[in-house]
Amino acid sequence: MRQHVNPLSRFFQLPLSLPCKSILFRHSHYPIHIDIGSAKGEFLFELASKYSEWNFLGLEIREPLVSSSERKRKELGLENLKFLFCNVNVSLDEWLSDLDYNQLKRVSIQFPDPWFKRKHFKRRVLKKSLLNSIARYMSKDGELFIQSDIFKLTESMTNVIDNSTYFDRKDLEGLKWLDKNPYDAYTDREFFVMGKNLPIYRAMYIRNSKIFIN
Ligand SMILES: C[S@@+](CC[C@H](N)C(=O)[O-])C[C@H]1O[C@@H](n2cnc3c(N)ncnc32)[C@H](O)[C@@H]1O
Repeated sequence: MRQHVNPLSRFFQLPLSLPCKSILFRHSHYPIHIDIGSAKGEFLFELASKYSEWNFLGLEIREPLVSSSERKRKELGLENLKFLFCNVNVSLDEWLSDLDYNQLKRVSIQFPDPWFKRKHFKRRVLKKSLLNSIARYMSKDGELFIQSDIFKLTESMTNVIDNSTYFDRKDLEGLKWLDKNPYDAYTDREFFVMGKNLPIYRAMYIRNSKIFIN
């Protein structure tokens, strides 16, 4: 399977109309946690089996990963979890507009593709437009969690979020980074990096009460 796809290529720029929450989830009014770039979905499998009164949605641009995660999800019989193929930068905003007021409680962006070369920075997933979509639909006190093992990439994400007036960084009483995953579940990449004893930069942001203005 290809390691990366170019999200700016014409194919991935075509907007997809994603199935609405009432088609995806048995209890469609439950609070929602979206994991952006869910890959093999390990993180959400863990959470969905632990928290039956939440709905979990994994969004992933590599379709074969979505197919294999969906196969596994069906085998496990998890009805509060779904994986969808899409480019979040193109198709997420419309899906969010169908949610109930205050339903979007958590978004995680974990170890996103780094796109190291400066000319490829624009392929990075967290941009102002995506952050605005999250800010617009997220409930007050909702959580935006980011993490990466690449400091420069984490810094670029915190810069985007710090420049927004809709999120406040969670105060860690003097610490700059969270020392573990706040959801007590781990992504594939996170396991790999922890196994190598390398640093991970984790930050939590909280949606404040500012009304979203376009
Ligand atoms: C480095 S992997 C990390 C996967 C997983 N979050 C983890 O921590 O193990 C980043 C994932 O984000 C996906 N991705 C990148 N850009 C995306 C986009 N615009 N929309 C949806 N998924 C995207 C990639 O295909 C890849 O599976």
